[in-house]
Amino acid sequence: MLSIRGVATGYGKVQILRGIDMSVSEGQIVALLGGNGTGKSTLLKAISGLLPVWDGAIEFEGEPIQNRRPNEIVKRGLTQVTQGKDMYPAMSVEENLRIGAYTRRDRAGVTADIGKVFDYFPVLGERRRQLAATLSGGEVQMLVIGRGLMARPKLIMLDEPSSALAPRIVLDIFSIVNRISRNEGITILLVEQNVRMALLLAEYGYVIRDGVIHIEGDSRDLITDDNVRLAYLGGTVTDAGADAGTGLAH
Ligand SMILES: Nc1ncnc2c1ncn2[C@@H]1O[C@H](COP(=O)(O)OP(=O)(O)O)[C@@H](O)[C@H]1O
Ligand SMILES: [Mg+2]
Repeated sequence: MLSIRGVATGYGKVQILRGIDMSVSEGQIVALLGGNGTGKSTLLKAISGLLPVWDGAIEFEGEPIQNRRPNEIVKRGLTQVTQGKDMYPAMSVEENLRIGAYTRRDRAGVTADIGKVFDYFPVLGERRRQLAATLSGGEVQMLVIGRGLMARPKLIMLDEPSSALAPRIVLDIFSIVNRISRNEGITILLVEQNVRMALLLAEYGYVIRDGVIHIEGDSRDLITDDNVRLAYLGGTVTDAGADAGTGLAH
C-alpha cells in the first residue's frame, strides 16, 4: 500500500535520511522505531509532502506521491497526525474535529464521522463543547487521532502518540487504535520512541539509525532481538508475559 524506496532528504544542506526502504501493506499496523533525532518525523514529513524528497520514490496504492502537495496526499487517503499533540486550544473539541475534515465536502458524512469518533473515544463526546485547552494530555492525544480520522484516511501515520503519557493511558489509546484499525480497515504507520509499547500494537517494525533502516522484522522477533533489546529496551530480558491481557496481543 505504501512503498518507500531509497528515500533521502534533509534540511537545507544537512542530509538526515540516506536511503530509507520500507513498506506497509494494507490492513497492517507497522511501527517505525528509533531514538530521539534519528529522523522519524522527518520521514513522515517527506511522505506527507511537507518536506522535499531529494532522492528515491514513495508510492501510495501504486502511484508515486513524492513531492506532491500535502493536501493532494491527504485526499488520496494518507493522513499524518503530527507529533506534539497540536490542537486549537481556543476551539471546542467538536470544532477541532471538523478541522480534520477540511478536504471533504460531504457534510452529512462529516457529521456521521464525528459521531463515530465519539463512539471510539466517549470522553471526547462528553466534552464535545468544551474548549480543547481544558483537556488532559491523554484526551488531547485522542482528539488529534480523532481529527486525523476525520479525513477518512486509508492509512494514518501517528507520530509518537505515547509521548508524555502514563503507560496505562497509552495502553487504553493503543487498544482503541487497534479496534479502529480492524473495524474500519485503516492501515497504520506508528512512529514511536517507546519501542516496548509500539511492539505491543504493531505486527511489524522498522528501526531507523544513521539515516537508514538498521533492523526490521516481525514484532515478536524484534522484541527478543539482542540488538533491539540492548539499544532500546534497557538491555533486560523482556517479559512478554507481563503484557498479556492488554487486548493487544497478536
Ligand atoms: N526544521 C528543521 N530544520 C533543521 N533541522 C531539523 C528540523 N527538524 C528536525 N531537524 C533535525 O533533523 C534530525 C531528525 O529530526 P526528527 O526527524 O525530528 O527526529 P525524530 O522524529 O526521530 O526524533 C535531528 O537532528 C533534528 O535536529
Ligand atoms: Mg519526531
